[in-house]
Amino acid sequence: MTRRGKNPPFDLMKAEARLAAKKRLIEKGLDRLLKRDDEPLFRAMRYAVLPGGKRFRPLLLLASGSCFGVSPPLLLPFASALELIHCYSLVHDDLPSMDNDDFRRGKPSLHRAFGENLAILAGDGLLSLAFETMAGAAVPRDKMRLKQEAIQVVSRNAGAAGMVGGQALEIGLKPGRLTRARTEALIQKKTGALILAAVEVGAIFGRARAAEQRAVGNFGRSLGLAFQVRDDILDARKENRAGFSGRADYVALVGKAKAGERLEALIRKAVVSLEGFPPRADELRFLARSLLPFETEVDHAQTAG
Ligand code: IPE
Ligand code: IPE
Ligand code: MG
Repeated sequence: MTRRGKNPPFDLMKAEARLAAKKRLIEKGLDRLLKRDDEPLFRAMRYAVLPGGKRFRPLLLLASGSCFGVSPPLLLPFASALELIHCYSLVHDDLPSMDNDDFRRGKPSLHRAFGENLAILAGDGLLSLAFETMAGAAVPRDKMRLKQEAIQVVSRNAGAAGMVGGQALEIGLKPGRLTRARTEALIQKKTGALILAAVEVGAIFGRARAAEQRAVGNFGRSLGLAFQVRDDILDARKENRAGFSGRADYVALVGKAKAGERLEALIRKAVVSLEGFPPRADELRFLARSLLPFETEVDHAQTAG
């Protein structure tokens, strides 16, 4: 796989433009969902979501839909829900009893701005809103079963068998017991599960065939792992961590060079999973390549704090 140079091939430029349009749709959708209200709880919920970060998961969901011929408006409630769940997870992840982070997306984390109690409640509110949004999604009668399946996939991957389970594994970490295999298994849950859900929902609504489902599933799994390895590389650039951090930090485990190599290999693997897919998969390919180290972030992927 070649790196994207200054002049990407034409179809990748088209993919980038389509993703930028999708991002605008996502931003509008999220703004509409979050109540404008002076009540501190609603202000806190908006603060957690708007303005946002890269919107990687909802973009991935809509890109997966496009890959299987499903238009973005039908999928928007699911894409929004995934982002709401992601934002709630960040709010709770930053709490003093979790990672105790004071900053998120370049501003004070929610508990620093609104207090810990409201941060917990705003997270709860976002999670509930996500399910309300999916349950209320308007879909044609012949797609009701697909809607149910999509809600099930998102619920499972967000919960104890997925992201929440991964976070629980991380708080139970003991120094010296971390192996690469254990770390990757943990990452597959804490970060990979939502990313996998994103590609699966697109495939569900697109009634993907079994082989296609397997291929995008493999794509999603490689990408989920890659995403966290990249995040750990970026974090390691910001701070020089030494010793056991209490986190499943990939860079602390294998070193920066090996983490970079693993990231490139995972992205390559993700793209290879889509071999044989038509140009409609270019948005997925583009999102995978946007995680390459030293890649200039495209405009749909503004750098997050
Ligand atoms: C950060 O996620 C937390 C991880 C799971 C690595 P993102 O990097 O997607 O954060 P935002 O949404 O762009 O801020
Ligand atoms: C993000 O994990 C939390 C979730 C996946 C729920 P990290 O703790 O690794 O991410 P940052 O560095 O806080 O964004
Ligand atoms: Mg954290």
